[in-house]
Amino acid sequence: MPDNPHPSLQHIAFIMDGNGRWAKKRFLPRAAGHAKGAAQVKRIIEACAERDVRYVTLYAFSTENWARPSDEVSALMSLFLKYLQSEVRTMRDNGIRLRVFGDRTAFSDEIQAAIALAESSTAGNDRLHLSVAANYGGRAEIADATKAIAAKVADGT
Ligand code: FPP
Repeated sequence: MPDNPHPSLQHIAFIMDGNGRWAKKRFLPRAAGHAKGAAQVKRIIEACAERDVRYVTLYAFSTENWARPSDEVSALMSLFLKYLQSEVRTMRDNGIRLRVFGDRTAFSDEIQAAIALAESSTAGNDRLHLSVAANYGGRAEIADATKAIAAKVADGT
């Protein structure tokens, strides 16, 4: 196993971008680009784990992404569910701890259950911490924090 060539490099965040361009170049539908992008993630996580990178963050699906055509959104949801289900055992057995951040309540019950199962099955792991931003947005986060502060002010705490 190669050592981390940059031991100070502990955390890498990836913005999952360029899937559409990858597909367009090959005259393929955008969904094919997303499928390729998701498959590449697996290789990236393996490479990070082999190099002892402890934290990996994937910006996978933003709050703005819901505005994409419905067939593209459903292809993304299918991919999310597929990988949550197919990779849970590999993550569990390879020391990867998965956490999803963002507002998960917008996802289907099936996806929410798969997230909960993947998080609980890998909760004891500590080799590589994988955080997936799903239905996450910087603006949404600021708005949520502001609402929480306003509620505390309103009730005097
Ligand atoms: C941006 O590419 C990428 C996405 C909108 C989604 C990437 C996520 C996955 C493939 C995994 C699914 C995961 C979840 C959480 C649903 P783009 O279409 O903007 O590409 P472009 O920059 O070339 O246009």
